[in-house]
Amino acid sequence: MKIIIKEEKDFFREAASEIAQVIRKKTSAKIGLSTGRTTKGVHAALVKLHEEEKFDCSGITVFGIDEITNMSRDCKASCYYILLHEVVEPLGIPLANFIMPDPMAEDPQKECRKFQQKVLADGGADFIFLGLGENGHLGFNQPGTPFGQTAWLSWMDDSLNERLRRENNIPDEVKMGGLTLGIKDFMQCPHLVIAANGENKKESVARMIEGPVTEAVPASILQLHPDCKVILDEAAAGGLKVTV
Ligand code: GLP
Repeated sequence: MKIIIKEEKDFFREAASEIAQVIRKKTSAKIGLSTGRTTKGVHAALVKLHEEEKFDCSGITVFGIDEITNMSRDCKASCYYILLHEVVEPLGIPLANFIMPDPMAEDPQKECRKFQQKVLADGGADFIFLGLGENGHLGFNQPGTPFGQTAWLSWMDDSLNERLRRENNIPDEVKMGGLTLGIKDFMQCPHLVIAANGENKKESVARMIEGPVTEAVPASILQLHPDCKVILDEAAAGGLKVTV
């Protein structure tokens, strides 16, 4: 793992420049993106970089690494909606090049396989940008998920479930699941970046980087990836024993 620690003010631009670099190097790159509080800032910085540098995004393909089931694509909490508005439209990526699983699919397991096949088609993903869950999750792969897991329908952890419902007024009868690429899918991608910021991530960051590689902390597997960069702000790096 290559670890980069930035001041809070430089964090989002540093993370965004990783995505921009991939696009500049390969205009037909296939790129996996995440949604959340961290990546919202990263995507805004990417759009700003794009306005400044005008690199061509018309040939790239983008997919979201996960999606919430039973949530319409019009809902602001759906990963489709978020990526469409934060990245796909502002960068001028053709809709035909935007791959997402269907959150309303009748058979979510079948949908996972379809989604994975689309991601793996034409040589697979060149790059995936990951966020880190407060409990160490990757995508929606919660603690305890086998490292060999491929795309599947995962459960939602309680605190995320509660937060999503509160922030988006989602009623209890809507059962949310996490349709996600699996940990094995991430590990098979040749180039990964994971970003985390804020005090609330410092424990999971320390466990990801300095703890044992264990299924109890899904992100700890990234220690074994040959090309994974970790981008942190100072607060998120605050729990590390060894500073870089
Ligand atoms: C969610 C998403 C992940 C994301 C993580 C971190 O669980 N499914 O893909 O990386 O949250 O989000 P945040 O940056 O909001 O903490």
